[in-house]
Amino acid sequence: MLLEVKDIHVHYGKIAALKGISVEVNEGEIVTLIGANGAGKTTTLKTISGLRGLTSGRIIFDGQDISKMPGHKRVVAGLGQAPEGRGIFPGMTVHDNLLMGAYARTTNSSKELAEAYELFPRLAERRDQAAGTMSGGEQQMLAIGRALMAKPKVLLLDEPSMGLAPLLVQQIFSIIEEINRRGTTVLLVEQNAQQALKLAHRAYVLETGKVVKSAPAAELLDDPDVQAAYLGGGMGHEVPGQAGQAAPEERA
Ligand SMILES: Nc1ncnc2c1ncn2[C@@H]1O[C@H](COP(=O)(O)OP(=O)(O)OP(=O)(O)O)[C@@H](O)[C@H]1O
Ligand SMILES: [Mg+2]
Repeated sequence: MLLEVKDIHVHYGKIAALKGISVEVNEGEIVTLIGANGAGKTTTLKTISGLRGLTSGRIIFDGQDISKMPGHKRVVAGLGQAPEGRGIFPGMTVHDNLLMGAYARTTNSSKELAEAYELFPRLAERRDQAAGTMSGGEQQMLAIGRALMAKPKVLLLDEPSMGLAPLLVQQIFSIIEEINRRGTTVLLVEQNAQQALKLAHRAYVLETGKVVKSAPAAELLDDPDVQAAYLGGGMGHEVPGQAGQAAPEERA
């Protein structure tokens, strides 16, 4: 097992945000956490990346207990992060933002740079543009590209599709799939449960700081409770305003 979150409890002041969450991620997997607003998904990712301390429980990564390791050392150890809210440097160019992502590495990063530009051609077009002037979707791509520069063993993604137009959502999800296919393990938090479950191998359902279900993602897609709560009742939801738009495959 590459990443093991064992019964973690996390508090914000007196408020218990996580009440004993356990999550396992095997090498090569895409694992997703789904759940309503406030369920504790972001807190779980932040605790794994070291942005939040835990009250109790343990986090084991690549055979090492990292529960008390500072966040920047976790990046060096191989935990890649593209945080909610992007966290890019707005005044720096796209190119320099990408290079910053490799700060923890001692070897040459030209291969990773080429790969980031290959995965995100939009970034290549805009390599000299100030990151802060890019669109929300472009900044999201940059955040992911930058995280990949550190050659992480696990990539932690918090709502990569947030605020993106439908076509771009499709694109981001296929890029995540491609990143995984090339060997990076992914732990994905998504509001878009339908898409996340289609992409992931396994999934955990969080409710008010607890895991209430974990199963292969395909199973959860067919689960009536999950459909009712997170998949729009399984009624084959049509998104208004999408009719007449080119399907993603037509644009490829
Ligand atoms: N900085 C904070 N101070 C106090 N409470 C917080 C803080 N951050 C999160 N919380 C609380 O912790 C709980 C879990 O929040 P978290 O952000 O992890 O949820 P989430 O599952 O990511 O939700 P969303 O889908 O809306 O992003 C919520 O009840 C939230 O109000
Ligand atoms: Mg969140």
